[in-house]
Amino acid sequence: MDETILVVDFGAQYAQLIARRVREAHVYSEIVSRDIPLVDLLARRPAGIIFSGGPASVHVEGAPSFDPAVYDSGVPVLGICYGAQLLAQQLGGVVARTDIAEYGRTGLEVVSRSALFADLPVTQDVWMSHGDSIVTAPPGFRVTARTDVVPVAALEDPERRIYGVQFHPEVAHTPRGQEVLKHFLYDVCGCAPRWTMTSIIETQVDKIRAQVGGERVLCGLSGGVDSAVAAALVHKAIGEQLTCVYVDTGLMRSGESEQVEDTFRRQFKVDLVHVKASDRFLEALDDVIDPEAKRKAIGEMFIRVFEEVATDYEDARFLVQGTLYPDVIESGGKDAARIKSHHNVGGLPDDMNFELVEPLRNLFKDEVRSMGEELGLPEEIVWRQPFPGPGLAVRIVGTVTPERLDILRRADAIVMEEIKKAGLSRELWQSFAVLPAVHTVGVMGDERTYAYPIVIRAVTSDDAMTADWARLPADLLQRLSSRIIAEVPGVNRVALDITSKPPGTIEWE
Ligand code: XMP
Repeated sequence: MDETILVVDFGAQYAQLIARRVREAHVYSEIVSRDIPLVDLLARRPAGIIFSGGPASVHVEGAPSFDPAVYDSGVPVLGICYGAQLLAQQLGGVVARTDIAEYGRTGLEVVSRSALFADLPVTQDVWMSHGDSIVTAPPGFRVTARTDVVPVAALEDPERRIYGVQFHPEVAHTPRGQEVLKHFLYDVCGCAPRWTMTSIIETQVDKIRAQVGGERVLCGLSGGVDSAVAAALVHKAIGEQLTCVYVDTGLMRSGESEQVEDTFRRQFKVDLVHVKASDRFLEALDDVIDPEAKRKAIGEMFIRVFEEVATDYEDARFLVQGTLYPDVIESGGKDAARIKSHHNVGGLPDDMNFELVEPLRNLFKDEVRSMGEELGLPEEIVWRQPFPGPGLAVRIVGTVTPERLDILRRADAIVMEEIKKAGLSRELWQSFAVLPAVHTVGVMGDERTYAYPIVIRAVTSDDAMTADWARLPADLLQRLSSRIIAEVPGVNRVALDITSKPPGTIEWE
């Protein structure tokens, strides 16, 4: 069992970032709800507990809290920002609503020896973001750092191994913050940096083998990174017991189906069922214009096709799903943002009689990508930009026909190629072409044309919840414009979408 650091969640984003930083220090970390009973938390045998920051004030009615008996449990505790204020208050210190708030980069001065600041300079920059301040440390605590504004910027009771920092060690704006966290993990909690990609893969391989025994396992491949990594991992664990199913909806990007075939059938020698179902999908989309109706038609057809394949494998008891940790947190977390309904499009029905194998459910996206690299998946798959389940259908405004799909696929291939050549694929969250349902007048040679425009959409984002339109270099835009018009019949104009999200969404439908 890995040594685990549990991060108690007082504000979702803060908690996630802390868990990621702990994992970057090669110690396994998970987020737990602040409502978890202390006995359940201790039953997980954590090597240490971190209280996250959060947006609340300890003074408001119903402020998030945690069972104070945790301080007598013998497990080391580190409180960050709100977490530090909470422990200070619960242990008898004073947290004041001062008039002076501290936001942004601040100079920290270490005023007393502390395991957290060992080897660190006496003064360093840290990132602060708080209104309330700890003004008096609890009995038995000593103050270990201050700033010009607050007298208690860090405090500790090393006997009981309880530590608090007012600043945010987890953010990049605290340059030595990761070292502070590492001191807590290695020197206070006694953890070793053992949680590496190699060890994660080994652990998961053992778990998968124990779960499925000698039985047959099915895995739906979408062409995306999550299902691909899950498949490669399960294949490493059980080899020929795995059958992968790739449903070619006809709504994929150029080269995508070949890539899946090439990687899984030829490179990994996986038993791959490639269902060519584009006719059926096109038929289901016939005359469908409304975006939600398109999603529904595609989702239903996907399920039907998958079910048909599954009947050929009646002995299969297990189904692999590429569920990631953020999905798990979002469905269980208290401060969770609602999951978008479209996440499940292309997913499989609940009433299929499968037991799920979810080997990525404890991993963040970047960890899944490193696992993909470690397992030998090609860069094109590991670093592929997100692609909606309903595929190109939601990038074609209006009816989806083979002709319009062809136009969009060709234009999109040029966008992918030029963005890749410009070295921007990883930097951009998504970059693609959209086909609107209008014609515009143009002139080519001496002829009047009346044809489609193509819209280029490129955005930067951290999580797709918000996004900014990407400032693509002018020479790149110029190349995209001339190539799309010259190489894609039926297109006579190229436009650029300069809308952020909100108010726009990333996709056009
Ligand atoms: P929007 O367009 O809502 O998209 O800003 C946010 C992110 O979700 C992707 N997306 C989808 N993914 N099924 C999916 O699996 C869908 O129906 C769907 N619609 C949008 C989109 O590509 C972006 O990354």
